[in-house]
Amino acid sequence: MHARVAAVGGNWKMNLDLAACRTLAGSIASAARAETFGCEITLFPPYPYLPAVESQLRGTSVRLGAQDLCERPNGAMTGEVSAAMLVDVGVTTVIVGHSERRHIRGEHDALVAAKLDAALSAGLQAVLCVGERLEDREAGRTLDVVLAQIDAATASITAGRFSGITLAYEPVWAIGTGLTASPADAQPVHAALRAWTRDRFGALAAEALRIEYGGSVKASLSADLIAQPDIDGFLVGGASLSADEFLRIVRSVEQSSLSTAP
Ligand code: PGA
Repeated sequence: MHARVAAVGGNWKMNLDLAACRTLAGSIASAARAETFGCEITLFPPYPYLPAVESQLRGTSVRLGAQDLCERPNGAMTGEVSAAMLVDVGVTTVIVGHSERRHIRGEHDALVAAKLDAALSAGLQAVLCVGERLEDREAGRTLDVVLAQIDAATASITAGRFSGITLAYEPVWAIGTGLTASPADAQPVHAALRAWTRDRFGALAAEALRIEYGGSVKASLSADLIAQPDIDGFLVGGASLSADEFLRIVRSVEQSSLSTAP
């Protein structure tokens, strides 16, 4: 049963243009004005479009997210964007440690940890991504990899600040590939992440922690995934570029929280 408020994020990555961002955010904002979603929704547009999306979402419950941030507060860091700048334009939530940053941009564990610290210090919520590559899964190293990632990222995080984190389990082999992890693939990893959290930060932190699944999520598969006891929402990439598909995923999460409400 889901004791936690579920969360669904739309990670638009490096897609869309200004007009398309306005249209997509406007459609989701209209839906949010017309109905009450039983879950928290966050949209993560590319940096330049944050203000335009913010103005579409204003007055709704839909939150504004950023896809990344710099670990440093300010200064000579050409091309980077600080946590304070994100807060300044209305961002409440930021993705940290996405696999495309880890594996394409070469972000190592220490940098992910520093970014997480910078986000939480600025009062942002963080969506911390972990996930194994195909060769890790095939070698039976899935849990070793994801637990090492969360361990490294949170090494200097206190229990009080841990509550600012939502986890996203995103197996690298499922991201953008059309291969969605089955409930049987994903649930044990989510359960292991929650057990790790219980050991490190205590039972209350573990119960409160939201663990999203990400990796080729689509509406046709989301109901089965969200029915799992430790899957508390989704981080959606490709399917979040369609308002209809994204809202179908949101509604499947809402249905599940209604049916599991105490
Ligand atoms: P995808 O991306 O849904 O396109 O696989 C998910 C993500 O990277 O967060």
